[in-house]
Amino acid sequence: MKLYKLMIMALGIASVMTGCGSATTSQGEAASTATTVDTGRVVIENIMARRSVRQYKDYPVGRDTVQLLLECGINAPNGMNKQPWAVRVVDNPEYINGVTEVFKKINPKMAADPGFKNMFRNAPTVIFVANDPTSSSSQIDCGLLGENIMLAAQAMGLGTCCLGSSAAFIQNVPEAAEYLEKLDLPEGHKLLYCIAVGYPDEAPAAKERDASKVKFID
Ligand SMILES: Cc1cc2nc3c(=O)[nH]c(=O)nc-3n(C[C@H](O)[C@H](O)[C@H](O)COP(=O)(O)O)c2cc1C
Repeated sequence: MKLYKLMIMALGIASVMTGCGSATTSQGEAASTATTVDTGRVVIENIMARRSVRQYKDYPVGRDTVQLLLECGINAPNGMNKQPWAVRVVDNPEYINGVTEVFKKINPKMAADPGFKNMFRNAPTVIFVANDPTSSSSQIDCGLLGENIMLAAQAMGLGTCCLGSSAAFIQNVPEAAEYLEKLDLPEGHKLLYCIAVGYPDEAPAAKERDASKVKFID
């Protein structure tokens, strides 16, 4: 049985057990427990349903929607609350298509793919995440920020794809320097990855995970 189905069953059992031991529990507490269990189930289903999306509908994502994703992102746990990140959102087709033209010249084979529209897996919005390397936990913190964004997006019916290669291209390829500059990153920050965001035009199946990599230690 899939791990997440077991977790959902466990939540159900926890709910029954709470109900059994609730002779003195008020109706309000019982209702609140049920809400907690339901919320838990929804959160777990959301986590398990998220997949990297690489095809998007043509229409844009509203900035209010993206703003909410960013709020979720910056509320991620981070070492000593240093918030060692700089986050930039680009939804301007001129930027996206402009840097894609540079990418196409350097990667003609990838650009020849009939499904290729832009170098961000065809997404209309891209969230760039840069870290402050002077903070020792900055890469971890930036990763947690990104997962918050991607899970919030999933909950709102949006698709996402974390992209290391697109960020590396903009960070390292001299021909793309103008686009790195446009991101207006603070001194010393390094572009770590970006997140493609858009309304999904595909529903990829889950890729297999290796459960043997995790274990309890007695
Ligand atoms: C740090 C990082 C970098 C990634 N870079 C790319 C990338 O450059 N291109 C891409 O298509 N997917 C990229 N991905 C997405 C992974 O391929 C994907 O998360 C993985 O295959 C698992 O699939 P899932 O997200 O659908 O569960 C990246 C993911 C992470 C976490």
